[in-house]
Amino acid sequence: MLTTIHNASELTEIILDYRKKGLKIGFVPTMGALHKGHLHLVKMSKNENDITIVSIFVNPTQFNDPRDLEKYPRTLSKDQELLQSTASADILYAPDVDDIYPDGIQSGSDIGLGGLDVMMEGSHRPGHFNGVAQVVNRLLEIVKPDNLYMGQKDFQQFTIINYMLKSLSIPTKLRVCPIVREDNGLAMSSRNVRLSPEVRTNASIIFKTLKAVKQKSRILDIESLKQYAIKRLDKPPFKPEYFDIVDGNTLLPVDNLDNHGYIVACTAVWVEGVRLIDNMVLKSDL
Ligand code: PAF
Repeated sequence: MLTTIHNASELTEIILDYRKKGLKIGFVPTMGALHKGHLHLVKMSKNENDITIVSIFVNPTQFNDPRDLEKYPRTLSKDQELLQSTASADILYAPDVDDIYPDGIQSGSDIGLGGLDVMMEGSHRPGHFNGVAQVVNRLLEIVKPDNLYMGQKDFQQFTIINYMLKSLSIPTKLRVCPIVREDNGLAMSSRNVRLSPEVRTNASIIFKTLKAVKQKSRILDIESLKQYAIKRLDKPPFKPEYFDIVDGNTLLPVDNLDNHGYIVACTAVWVEGVRLIDNMVLKSDL
């Protein structure tokens, strides 16, 4: 039975009680408009913990574009229904802005991110990752979970959160769930509902390009791979913002596939005013 809580102090009391009983807590932070990708995270948490807590909070401090914040889909009752009947989560924490930022939204936004926040997404969305780190840190302060669940689709995001966990000595373990895709390969995202049916179908080009790049990475050099990808993605109405091939740990661009053990291709593509991100691991010695 799903319990919905809007208030941090109420949630803290319940969590204390779980702790006294020695229960293991898994936490899935979201901004709502839940889709199968989120449900996979919940499933993973349920498999690995006694209690699964999901948060839904559209965090204003991570939106660099006010129109994106305004248009972000908000579907709380549908989400509650999904968490209750399909995902069987235990607790939904759905706070308002004052509950998360009692001292105002400027507080605690200066967490050091080791420079991982400036490239790719960070260079196109200034301040975005400071906002993400700020809210995740605050949510972890409230929930204090054993395990935190995030999706691989937001590659830079989970890399930054992992860095933050270590640098702030937060004892929570990050668990990353592989990208969940629509039938045509488009990575699941809450923003996909804003696409017209035709474009949503044709957006398979992003996954197809990443797959082709992975295949060609055996024969082409990095610069040729990037040029190939950009040319393939640059077909109106699609407009690639970047296509980068980076070291999976440092997120710095690589110039040679042989010198790195963990390499990821990451991209952001604009279409119909929606920004779609995706990535694919090209090489991993892990
Ligand atoms: O990935 C998201 O949905 C958000 O960035 C997160 C992690 C819930 C923080 O607001």
